[in-house]
Amino acid sequence: MATSMRVSVIGTGYLGATHAAAMAELGFEVTGVDVDPAKVDLLASGRVPFFEPGLPELLQKHLATGRLRFTTDLAAAVADADIHFICVGTPQQAGSSAANLDYVEVAVAAVARAMSRDGLVVGKSTVPVGTGERLRVLLAALTPEGVAAELVWNPEFLREGRAVEDTLRPDRIVIGGASPAAEAMLREVYATPIAAGTPVITCDLPTAELVKVSANAFLATKISFINAIAELCEAAGADVTVLADALGHDARIGRRFLNAGLGFGGGCLPKDIRALTHRAGELGAPQIASLMRRVDEINMRQRERVVELAIAACDGSVLDARIAVLGAAFKPDTDDVRDSPALSVAAALHLRGAQVSVYDPAAGETGRRTFPTLTFAASTAEAVRGADVVLVLTEWPEFVDASPVALAELARGRTVIDARNCLDADAWRAAGWTLHALGRGAPADVRSVVFA
Ligand code: UDX
Repeated sequence: MATSMRVSVIGTGYLGATHAAAMAELGFEVTGVDVDPAKVDLLASGRVPFFEPGLPELLQKHLATGRLRFTTDLAAAVADADIHFICVGTPQQAGSSAANLDYVEVAVAAVARAMSRDGLVVGKSTVPVGTGERLRVLLAALTPEGVAAELVWNPEFLREGRAVEDTLRPDRIVIGGASPAAEAMLREVYATPIAAGTPVITCDLPTAELVKVSANAFLATKISFINAIAELCEAAGADVTVLADALGHDARIGRRFLNAGLGFGGGCLPKDIRALTHRAGELGAPQIASLMRRVDEINMRQRERVVELAIAACDGSVLDARIAVLGAAFKPDTDDVRDSPALSVAAALHLRGAQVSVYDPAAGETGRRTFPTLTFAASTAEAVRGADVVLVLTEWPEFVDASPVALAELARGRTVIDARNCLDADAWRAAGWTLHALGRGAPADVRSVVFA
């Protein structure tokens, strides 16, 4: 589909780079803008500064079609476009649980000043409810005389590792606060997924902002719920993985996001539930604030549980123990280590004097940058060689499929902690390993339940 609509995408991180490439795939002329010249150069040469399956291919395809460009020159990109997507980050503020909105404000202000013709500013970043209204005031104040600008919110729900698929074929499109003309423009932008059946929900600005935040809050709650049940399973000698399968058959519950283990991390869920807690407090809605606080606490406790299991496996002290950590990314199929539970555990064990060797198929480099004091191995075998205890902290297929027999020959000890409930426990035990999992006691550990 060829169209005359021109698009600028402000911010080229996970969200923006994927959105820019997807917009080109949908047939638009796209310019991606970032303040980081190194990132722009890399993207312009068809390389992606992070690991995202399928994205390099899509990027290269549209650099070749000529529909996709990258630049640091925001003013030129904006002056030349009709629709401007705000895709910058909203990380947690230093010293607060609130979101840092500086990047969003700076981006909207810069777009406003650079607009040379009427246009639509579309917020995609995850923001605390009420942000869009404030940005509208900013936009109106800074747009040049005679230029009409409208701001709407169209939150993005993409998952890292599935970003391309989620952007091209989203499971819903939410459009908040749009005039009929703005809605028509966005329906044109998303004509392909809409024709393929993706539902469109139109609503006011605060509802659109809250849909995104609530989606992440619900997912986080599901994970902490199953982790709380996992604790009970351990106490009762039950198996949380079987329980989750059984729960999942109830269509009202569903099986997804019921994997018990080390819990959630990454650049979204943790900071989004904290920002929600903060914003709910500001707005006088204490119930969700206290619920999210518990969800967060239960989640962070899982990291301590794994550290405690490792200490117990080393007879009470990890000092000088050799510990293999398999996994550094916050989940498989990404090299993102932001708030990674795996690296939190590795660092905590290092702090207690363990010799920790970390291996991750994609996140070795990002992990090393974040925790330069940890040792990073080049392979599973290198990490496991001579280890007293093996910890599986990210469920990469490479670890799930690893041979417990081969690894038993490399390790010094025979204890494995399966913190993601991803290993074939029977196969590992048959190979001579003592396997500990979260919410799944070893058959021998199962205690009889005492009735009070
Ligand atoms: C999330 C949301 O899914 C996405 O819709 C939103 O746009 C951004 O935030 P992402 O951060 O990419 O996406 O990761 P996600 O796949 O949601 O996983 C989050 C964390 O939860 C990971 O650390 C993962 O290991 C953990 N998780 C997930 C569990 O512990 N158990 C589960 O059952 C599922």
